[in-house]
Amino acid sequence: MRVIVTAGPTYEPIDPVRFIGNRSSGKQGYAIAKSLSDNGFDVTLISGPTHLPDISGITMIRIETAKQMLKAVQNTLLSSQQDIAICAAAVADWAPTFSNQKIKKGSGEPQITFTENPDILKTIATAHNRPTLVIGFAAETENLIENAAAKLKRKSCDWILANDVSPANEHNVFGGDNNHIHLITNETQEDWQTMSKIAIADKLTNKIQNHFENQKK
Ligand code: C5P
Repeated sequence: MRVIVTAGPTYEPIDPVRFIGNRSSGKQGYAIAKSLSDNGFDVTLISGPTHLPDISGITMIRIETAKQMLKAVQNTLLSSQQDIAICAAAVADWAPTFSNQKIKKGSGEPQITFTENPDILKTIATAHNRPTLVIGFAAETENLIENAAAKLKRKSCDWILANDVSPANEHNVFGGDNNHIHLITNETQEDWQTMSKIAIADKLTNKIQNHFENQKK
């Protein structure tokens, strides 16, 4: 079965030397891509800038911006029908207008304006060649379950892996090795407790395998 995974942050350039980014390490998305590949899935990993090495045996596409990530996703969907999409990337919601020249000091504070980026998860979930199973993430700081359930509907996806990224959470999710996930679907909610990102990836792979097995019955 074929699967697209998005991972990492996006970088949105302000001028040729500056960008706006975020603290996503890409660890969770890479762990998911590796676990699926180890279990026989044909994986395309579309990654924003990370410090993580390429994973052998999978198709790696490295991009920088949200628009480039969307293009890579759409090209992959066009080149072969995908069964599953997992959007683990922390895509920037906004892109600044780009200055072709480096913005110079001395001419006042720069005024940066923003335009909204495409929602990659929603675009995949509503595409004519939609994968059978579309999975998103929801990093929330409050009302985790309610917000994640609303996101599931709004983005037309099938499952959401929700995690608490509030400062009060004792686990440093961004860049850390652990995560506390709640799996939200239209029918169920599961609390996976705190575990390593690798263990979460394996649990997700297992869930996906069971899901397709049950569909065959
Ligand atoms: O709306 P929010 O950013 O909280 O949604 C998170 C989910 O949506 C994640 O799965 C993320 O990868 C995806 N997303 C996306 N494109 C965006 C924003 C979020 O694919 N522009």
